[in-house]
Amino acid sequence: MTCAIVTGGAGFIGSHLCEALLAQGYRVVCLDDLSTGLARNIAHLDGHPRFAFIRADVVCESAWTSLSAATRVFHLASPASPDDYQRTPVETIRTNVVGIFNALEFARTHTARLLLTSTSEVYGDPAVHPQPESYWGNVNPVGPRSCYDEGKRCAEALAMAHARQHGTAVRVARLFNTYGPRLRPDDGRVVSQFIVHALRGEPLPLYGNGSQTRSFCYVGDIVRGLLALMNQDRTTGPVNLGNPHEITIAALAHEVLRLTGTTAGLQVQPERTDDPRRRQPDIQLAQRLLQWRPEVGLQEGLGATIEWFRAHRAEEFPLQAEEVKQTDARGQLDGLPVP
Ligand SMILES: NC(=O)c1ccc[n+]([C@@H]2O[C@H](COP(=O)([O-])OP(=O)(O)OC[C@H]3O[C@@H](n4cnc5c(N)ncnc54)[C@H](O)[C@@H]3O)[C@@H](O)[C@H]2O)c1
Repeated sequence: MTCAIVTGGAGFIGSHLCEALLAQGYRVVCLDDLSTGLARNIAHLDGHPRFAFIRADVVCESAWTSLSAATRVFHLASPASPDDYQRTPVETIRTNVVGIFNALEFARTHTARLLLTSTSEVYGDPAVHPQPESYWGNVNPVGPRSCYDEGKRCAEALAMAHARQHGTAVRVARLFNTYGPRLRPDDGRVVSQFIVHALRGEPLPLYGNGSQTRSFCYVGDIVRGLLALMNQDRTTGPVNLGNPHEITIAALAHEVLRLTGTTAGLQVQPERTDDPRRRQPDIQLAQRLLQWRPEVGLQEGLGATIEWFRAHRAEEFPLQAEEVKQTDARGQLDGLPVP
């Protein structure tokens, strides 16, 4: 049995990844400071014999030195929604830069493979469309989104530098917009925001005229892609993971209204600063290297997400945070079955 560390494992994508790794027989250590994630996302894993949760900041070296050996490090810890990262831009940069530095040192010391979840934001407001990995991007280095965009660009640079200088086994996934169950209802991301407003019977906020495009990938497809990328045998440069189906934000809003049966309509709001005009992944590399492509269409994925939001009464958020037991870093980890 191999051990995987998932930083950011109490977040939206990380919690699904923890589940998938447990299903594959891994021992899973979730390292998360719960700054943007929720204990309730992993509450159902509490007590699982191969699951451990450590509440810690990836920036702190001590969080890493307390960990036992692992063969896989999935490094997801970072705020991801613009509302979250713009609230704490300094911590966002520190998490992305110092966090990956610590994760890489851990991977090197333990001869583990490390996968970094980077983002399509490294392409900024792209001048090339769709975006292949070879495109270097068009990022405002000092704008309000730069804490995240440049933080991730630096994280990618550090990962590649480690691979070149120390031979650390790294994988870099550039994720495009991902959605699905466990999106935090108050995170301000477009899918969660639209669904919550629709379920409340309120008009959906549309920033600008809604002609900007995004490509939305269902979380299950992304998790499958992350596992495939980690498991392929070579250290590679970045690989795009996302759904190439491109849709305008206005069309997405109408789809959410239709699927929820809401008649509240749209409410136009001022355009957001540095909001990219277009986003669409070129996934030829992922198809070739990983034989991966998304399988869940937008209608199916949105339907499942809306169902989850309804079942969890997400429109009544803020929900009561449920506490999940933290695993004592050394004691209980040592008690877990060793591979
Ligand atoms: N969801 C998307 O559309 C998307 C798109 C591109 C990239 N990504 C990347 O995927 C990863 C996961 O995103 P998500 O959507 O699940 O976001 P999320 O906010 O739900 O999850 C991030 C998790 O990281 C934790 N975290 C943040 N800072 C930390 C720190 N210093 N120490 C320990 N834990 C910390 C949070 O508490 C949270 O649980 C992020 O790295 C993000 O940049 C996500």
